[in-house]
Amino acid sequence: MCGISAIASYKPVAEKLFQCLINLEYRGYDSCGMALFDQQSLKLRKNIGNVEEVGAKERFFEMSGNTGIAHTRWATHGGVSTENSHPHSSNDQNFVIVHNGIFSNYKTLRKSLKNKGYQFHSDTDTEVFANLLQEEFKKTPHVEQAFCQAIEHLQGSYAIAMITTHQPDVVFAVKKDSPLVLGINDGTNYVSSDINAFIAETNDTVIIDDEEYVIMTKDNFQVKRLVDGQEVKKKIIKVQWDRQTAQRGGFSHYMLKEIFDQPQTVRNALHIPEEEIGKIAQKFLDKKQSYFVGVGTTYYVAMIGTYLFSQYAGLHVPAISSDEFPSLIPTDQNNHVLFFSQSGETYDTRMAIRKAMEGGAATSAIVNVVGSSISQTVEDCIFQGSGPEICVVSTKAALSQIIILWQIALKVGELNGNLTAEQAHQFRENFNSFPETLETMINEESGFIRDLAAKTFHVRSWLFMGKGIYYPIALESALKMKEVTYLHAEGLPAGFLKHGTLAMVDDSMYCLFFLPYREDSELYHSTMNAIEEVKARNGKIIAFCTEDDKEAQEILDHYFIIPKISPELTPLLEIVLAQLFSYYSALHLGLNIDKPRNLAKSVTVG
Ligand code: G6P
Repeated sequence: MCGISAIASYKPVAEKLFQCLINLEYRGYDSCGMALFDQQSLKLRKNIGNVEEVGAKERFFEMSGNTGIAHTRWATHGGVSTENSHPHSSNDQNFVIVHNGIFSNYKTLRKSLKNKGYQFHSDTDTEVFANLLQEEFKKTPHVEQAFCQAIEHLQGSYAIAMITTHQPDVVFAVKKDSPLVLGINDGTNYVSSDINAFIAETNDTVIIDDEEYVIMTKDNFQVKRLVDGQEVKKKIIKVQWDRQTAQRGGFSHYMLKEIFDQPQTVRNALHIPEEEIGKIAQKFLDKKQSYFVGVGTTYYVAMIGTYLFSQYAGLHVPAISSDEFPSLIPTDQNNHVLFFSQSGETYDTRMAIRKAMEGGAATSAIVNVVGSSISQTVEDCIFQGSGPEICVVSTKAALSQIIILWQIALKVGELNGNLTAEQAHQFRENFNSFPETLETMINEESGFIRDLAAKTFHVRSWLFMGKGIYYPIALESALKMKEVTYLHAEGLPAGFLKHGTLAMVDDSMYCLFFLPYREDSELYHSTMNAIEEVKARNGKIIAFCTEDDKEAQEILDHYFIIPKISPELTPLLEIVLAQLFSYYSALHLGLNIDKPRNLAKSVTVG
């Protein structure tokens, strides 16, 4: 899992290529490299470390040339080393490539190339393709043909960009099962794994489909079909993400910026066209049994969906984690599966979609990244319009998905008669003021949350608890805490505590409770029971509560104040406050918040 980029321009590209790498770094950050065509020869620099470190070490800025490729890596085949980092070149140094994906047959290819006398300098699967190009060019000294012939040998998934001394001003690219997009600008064109790479430069994008290849120069691009070399007329899409959203805008981390982006991303989610919501809502009525599927944070979004559907639509829609879906759920034409994915590239979710489709189920998705694999695979897709989410952990994308899901639940409820039109209208009205409430709360509470994190960041183990819809909120918040602080945080249903986990509670155990309003009486009282159970064992308790909830405040060690708004909005406010709490805890621990160790934003391998 990696990020690739390439640029052909009328002016030097090193600086822009480096910026593309920075923008793609969330896809992997153990090593990186760039290759540029510079006065008759190819210059290649690469090393281990994150983009900024390698950029400084290898002096990327000093590289000259108007055509180049770049890569940021998250090791899969071959450990983290300079040799294994990309770009990789052919033995004769005439072909240089970057690759995202896995060539599943690379061992066989490597063996046969070795038999022909080729030498290998890395343990990667990628290097075989560079030498295949050299080999095919020997047979057919025509770059485009050699490129297509070399691709014929490949099995697995790939997005590849290639430059060659034989046609120095041209970038060749191809994709199968890994994302690839073009950015079209005046005199400077881009190839990349993701629009994030170039969105600060151009909004004009072309999405490349499987089995298509690209020939790109500074002022032209052609997309052709691998099968017959015929040109495909591609649409240029204007992506509505703005430049500023793609940048950190004065915040110390992307995570913080993206938490503060949420009032706006919620507004965007509330403006998804009704017909898009309606189309997916109808699927829940047309099919006997539906499922929600996602993984990581999006699995918890799926779980939240289960509660929303039960409440508003009177339907039980189970949530399944993408990695478990293929072995757990037999699907047929009576099923509909709604998938969630920020990146639209997650391997586990793609495999779940494949399984659902094989069974004949109807599929739909809520996805953030335009042109991503998942958005192109499912029958109906809603683009959530949250803008680029750069921090590895998901905040604004997840909240937007919940808002969209909630609108679908309301629509289904209206259509199946579980809600009257007035009830649905009232709920929507309540939601319209949510972005402003969220804005005020983030601004007013963040100082307080920061102070509390300063007091608690030493805590090694947390229990995060909630009941009803607050249970998946607790799970997601615990995941956030684990991801950015590396501390143990376990999410569990508040009512479940006494059935085992309570044994762990003593005066060193810290518990964060997602407490509903007092008016939500049943949920409130059973959550309060769990709080009392912890209190009786001297455990430390932190909870969310309203200003007037003196009953709770008396027994809590610390509390976050939430404003009094309609009850269905409270869990969403709490999820955001918990994001801030994780952020500030990690900040006090001095960790790499935007790029936690061992994680990557888009996990495109199984
Ligand atoms: C990775 C990330 C998680 C993310 C999950 C699903 O594991 O580290 O933060 O929640 O993928 O990603 P998706 O893009 O499909 O929502």
